Amino acid sequence: MRKPLVAGNWKMNGSLDSINTLLGGIKEGLGNVSEAELAVCPPAIYIQHVASSLKGTNVALGAQDVNDKPAGAHTGEHSVSMLKDFGCKYVILGHSERRTLYGETDDFTARKFIAAREAGLVPILCVGELLEEREQGITEQVVARQLDAIIDLEGAGALGAAVVAYEPVWAIGTGKTATPDQAQEVHAFIRGMVAKEDAEVAAGLRILYGGSVKGSNAAELFQMTDIDGGLIGGASLDATEFLAIGQACNS
Ligand code: PGA
Repeated sequence: MRKPLVAGNWKMNGSLDSINTLLGGIKEGLGNVSEAELAVCPPAIYIQHVASSLKGTNVALGAQDVNDKPAGAHTGEHSVSMLKDFGCKYVILGHSERRTLYGETDDFTARKFIAAREAGLVPILCVGELLEEREQGITEQVVARQLDAIIDLEGAGALGAAVVAYEPVWAIGTGKTATPDQAQEVHAFIRGMVAKEDAEVAAGLRILYGGSVKGSNAAELFQMTDIDGGLIGGASLDATEFLAIGQACNS
């Protein structure tokens, strides 16, 4: 049985005040989320604050990115050991905003993935196609290329301690969610691709859907066979919405 994961990607949003309000709301309603594991991924500068606020709860902490190097002259970056120091469990890698706005390649993402795994962090590897790629009918090729960057370096076993998030780029922050069938098709493709290499890893792999998930559409997405929760952007900034998405995993 795969435990569903609902992870909030706060992106570059929030202030101390708004984060305190958000965390207060999440802690208050946590008891209503029975099946899903919840995680929040704040901007790096707030990680320590969020870690102390979440102490004693079962909400996991994650980061939005990490560098692949252990230390040194990398102005503006943070390392896996820094994330470990403050109790991070997860790290989002290869988000489409990193890929498209900051030119991060499959190869760089794969190196970060390896560094994260070696440090005992759980990577949430984001994959997904642009609108024009979907229109050209090459969604599976794009997703396969993004996954192969990891599999070619480390083998499919590397995904054993990881999470994959399928996020069609055209659905991120646009209000245009993939239909449950569209998402399921790609999730099944991802699981099938991993299964060809390692059936056991594929069966245990949590594959999240991301892209305009809200309280109102989460249940229909999460009921699909190969969708094991969500990576939530905008809706994770609102405690009521975030908890509603978590509750959509309740059986
Ligand atoms: P969204 O973002 O929920 O605001 O579409 C998802 C993501 O980018 O992870």
